[in-house]
Amino acid sequence: MSRSAHPAGPRHADVMSEGHYFAPADDLNVLDEKVWSHTVTRDEHGAVTVGGLTVSRLAEEFGTPAYFLDEADFRARCRAWSDAFGPGADVFYAGKAFLSRAVVRWLKEEGLNLDVCSGGELATALDAGMPAERIAFHGNNKTVDEIERAVAAGVGRIVLDSFQEIARVAHIAQGLGRRQRVQIRVTVGVEAHTHEFIATAHEDQKFGIALAGGQAAEAVRRALTLDGLELVGIHSHIGSQIFDMAGFEVSARRVVQLLAEVRDEHGVELPEIDLGGGLGIAYTSDDDPREPHEIAKSLGDIVTRECEAAGLATPRISVEPGRAIVGPTAFTLYEVGTVKPLEGLRTYVSVDGGMSDNIRTALYDAEYSVSLASRTSDAEPMLVRVVGKHCESGDIVVKDAYLPADLAPGDLIAVPATGAYCRSMASNYNHALRPPVVAVRDGEARVIVRRETEEDLLRLDVG
Ligand code: LLP
Repeated sequence: MSRSAHPAGPRHADVMSEGHYFAPADDLNVLDEKVWSHTVTRDEHGAVTVGGLTVSRLAEEFGTPAYFLDEADFRARCRAWSDAFGPGADVFYAGKAFLSRAVVRWLKEEGLNLDVCSGGELATALDAGMPAERIAFHGNNKTVDEIERAVAAGVGRIVLDSFQEIARVAHIAQGLGRRQRVQIRVTVGVEAHTHEFIATAHEDQKFGIALAGGQAAEAVRRALTLDGLELVGIHSHIGSQIFDMAGFEVSARRVVQLLAEVRDEHGVELPEIDLGGGLGIAYTSDDDPREPHEIAKSLGDIVTRECEAAGLATPRISVEPGRAIVGPTAFTLYEVGTVKPLEGLRTYVSVDGGMSDNIRTALYDAEYSVSLASRTSDAEPMLVRVVGKHCESGDIVVKDAYLPADLAPGDLIAVPATGAYCRSMASNYNHALRPPVVAVRDGEARVIVRRETEEDLLRLDVG
C-alpha cells in the first residue's frame, strides 16, 4: 500500500483519505517482508504461516485475538544488534516494549542486557534469572521501594532523572552499605519525531536534566560528591520511531561535550555514554528503517569523531532498542465479525479485539497494515478501516488499508508489527480480556503470556 500521492491521479480503487490518495498494492496476497517477521510466509493453500504453523491451526488452538511472536526472529534481531555493536558496546533491550519471563530468558541466552522502568519489570527480570548487573533501572519517579529493591538486587546501573533522585538514590545506597553505579539522564535539546527532529521546546518535558543552563553539569557536580554513588556515565534518549540519524548525531555531540566539560572541571573522564533507544521499524511498506549495523556504525563514528576532537578516550557506548527488536517479531490475529460497507466512504471491518489490544492507533495516530491471513483472494481491493469491538468510535486498529472485497465474517486477518507497545499497553477497557502472547518456533507454539479470563477480572473485584 502506498500512501504517497498517486502519480496518475486516482484509479478506480484509489480513494481520497484525509487529504491524500493512496493506492492498493498490486497484489494484496503478497506479504511485504519489510513488515512481517522472518518466518512468515503463505502455505500452498494460501494461508499465512509463522514458524511453519498456519494461522487457522493457531487460531483453533489459541483463539483470537492473539499475538503470535516469532521466536527465531526475535533471537535473530537480538544477535543482529549485539553483533553490530560488538564486544566494545552494550545493547540493553527496553523491556517496556514487551516483557515476559520467556523474553528475559531469550535475552539472557542471546547476551543482551535489559532496561527496566518499574518494580514490576524488575521483578520479572529477576524472576526469570537475568543477572542483576545486566539490568539498568530507569524512570522519572522511581519510588523509594523500587530504588531499595534495585540497589539491594545489585542492578548494574540506575539512570538518575532529577536532583531529588540523585540525593534519594545516594541516601538509599549508603543506607544499604552500597556504592551504586549510576548514569545521569540529560535532555540534550533535540526532540525527535518519526521523520524529523525539532530543536525547540525540548526542555519542556518531564524526563532528564537539561544540558542547557548548566543543569546537567550541576547534577554531575552533586553526583560526584556523594559517597553512595559511582557516576559512570551520561544517558540521553531522544524519542521513538525515529528514522533520521541526525537527531542521534546532535545528541551524541552534546553528550560528548558534557564529558569534556566534566573532564575539565573535575579531572574525571566518565567511561560510559548511553544514547537510548528509539530506532524506527516498518509498520507499512512506506517505512524504511535502518539496519542495526548501519546504526552502530553511524553512532560509533560520531562518538569516536567527537571524542577525538575533544581529546577524550572513546567511552563505552550503550543503546536501548525496544521496538526495533520486538516490534517486527509479532502480529495480531483477529477474526472478522462484521463487514459494513458505507456507500461512497469505506468499508468498516469489525474484529474481535481493538483498542484494548492495540491502543497505538487511537493514541498516536499510528499507521498499521493488515492482510487477509486465512486464505488468499483474487477479489478487487476494497478500502477498509479495521475497527474493534469497544464502545468508542475512535476504536480503530488500522485506519486506512485495502482488503479483498470478498472479505467475510469468519475470515482471519493479521496486523503485522505489533510486537512492541501493544500487549505491554493493553487494557481491560469494557472488561476486555487481554489476549495471549504465543511464541512460535520451528513448528511448535507455546503460550508465554496466557489469555486473561473473566475469573482473572473478577478476582481483582473484591467489593
Ligand atoms: N530507553 C528509554 C529511556 C526509553 O524511554 C525508551 C522508550 C526506550 C529506551 C525504548 O524506545 P524504543 O526503542 O522502543 O522506541 N508507547 C510508545 C513508545 C514510548 C517509548 C517510551 N520510551 C509507542 O507505542 O510508540
